[in-house]
Amino acid sequence: MAEPLTTTMTVSMMLNRTPVQVEIEPSEPLAYTLRERLGLTGTKVSCDVQACGACTVLVDGLPRSACTFLTYEARDRDVLTVEGLAPAKDVLDPLQQAFIAENGFQCGFCTPGMLLAAHAWLSVDADPDADGEDVIEYMSGNLCRCTGYLPIVASILRARNG
Ligand code: FES
Ligand code: FES
Repeated sequence: MAEPLTTTMTVSMMLNRTPVQVEIEPSEPLAYTLRERLGLTGTKVSCDVQACGACTVLVDGLPRSACTFLTYEARDRDVLTVEGLAPAKDVLDPLQQAFIAENGFQCGFCTPGMLLAAHAWLSVDADPDADGEDVIEYMSGNLCRCTGYLPIVASILRARNG
């Protein structure tokens, strides 16, 4: 007798520098896997249609909207969420320190996505001459309802300037 078709699959990935295997459904978005299967609720979901940036995580160092990026697509790749941003226990990433110093958040709902999008910029292609307008353009996919953006821009420039 034929085996019944299974609706789940196992994927492996490096998640926050740790190897992880997780059972998923093939059409499952990464945000669901992170939050509901792995308990990493730092990744927020707001619009759920890749329009607000709240769910931004890094896959192989590049920002991805975890609300629409399938977990299957992340198999065998490096995934970084806000839980893995700090380099060590009790040591914040310079971006996190800058957000605190510049009051770059209020309710904090957008902050994980902001941090990861900015981290990608600082890690990969931050122009040392970039100004606030450049940061606003780069971060245009990440929406914030609270801060008016200027403290966020100041935070990112502070981290860039060291
Ligand atoms: S929740 Fe994914 S982009 Fe808005
Ligand atoms: S701090 Fe509240 S949405 Fe940005």
